[in-house]
Amino acid sequence: MARFDQQTFLITGGARGMGAAQARKLVAQGGKVLITDILEEQGQALAAELGASARFCRLDVSDEAQWAQAVTQAQALGHLSGLVNNAGIFAPASIENTDLAQFEQHFRVNQLGTFLGIKAMIAPLREKGGSIVNISSTAGLRGVAHTLAYSGTKWAVRGMTKAAARELGDLKIRVNCVHPGLIDTDMLKVRDQAENLIQAQAQPIKRLGSADEVADLVLFLLSPESAFMTGAELAVDGGRSL
Ligand SMILES: NC(=O)c1ccc[n+]([C@@H]2O[C@H](COP(=O)([O-])OP(=O)(O)OC[C@H]3O[C@@H](n4cnc5c(N)ncnc54)[C@H](O)[C@@H]3O)[C@@H](O)[C@H]2O)c1
Repeated sequence: MARFDQQTFLITGGARGMGAAQARKLVAQGGKVLITDILEEQGQALAAELGASARFCRLDVSDEAQWAQAVTQAQALGHLSGLVNNAGIFAPASIENTDLAQFEQHFRVNQLGTFLGIKAMIAPLREKGGSIVNISSTAGLRGVAHTLAYSGTKWAVRGMTKAAARELGDLKIRVNCVHPGLIDTDMLKVRDQAENLIQAQAQPIKRLGSADEVADLVLFLLSPESAFMTGAELAVDGGRSL
């Protein structure tokens, strides 16, 4: 029997980057995946590549009504076992150059989206339990200049993980948090790659991480191999947060 046989997962921001890597690995290991994103073309293409075990559904994570539709579509694929709150935006700026709209947009996608995801999964997971993985950042473990709006949301994701883990343990719903460091995805294109590589040189492991390396940790947290873990915060960051 494959590792994720008979299990269905919902991934937000799954059209590309880390979410896409998670979807590919889950399907390769027998799971079914509802890939969700606001990038419809890329999401549809990935679902087509992955075949009958994957489907795409447009989901703006900041819209509660769309969450209800996405959960229904995930349940149509099979028994829903977990969620990865992976969608995120990152627009670094100094505090003085961060306007209200930028601050609010980070809040809506990274923080409100994670709350709505946790909330939407309680009813479907209530009967048999399940696993929720929230993607924070090393910016949710330490202070990083020029990222106040982003960092605030990622510390919130870490805190919401712990509050939810406390509250949902009785329902056998585990909630854990992953803190990626510099990972080579489109998100880092906000800066020159040379600058990303300079930052990586300050780490014990002096390179960027890959989406696959984060996906391996996410799959561990979705699987029964982590059955005794909830409320945990795990960095996958080449030592960046030390
Ligand atoms: N790449 C890094 O170095 C890094 C480091 C730490 C944390 N992270 C976090 O990892 C997660 C995945 O990021 P990534 O590196 O794969 O970047 P990415 O930009 O490739 O992926 C993010 C995805 O989120 C989607 N998204 C944006 N707004 C959305 C919305 N309103 N509703 C639904 N989806 C939306 C995007 O369309 C995109 O597909 C994010 O939460 C990010 O903050 C990334």
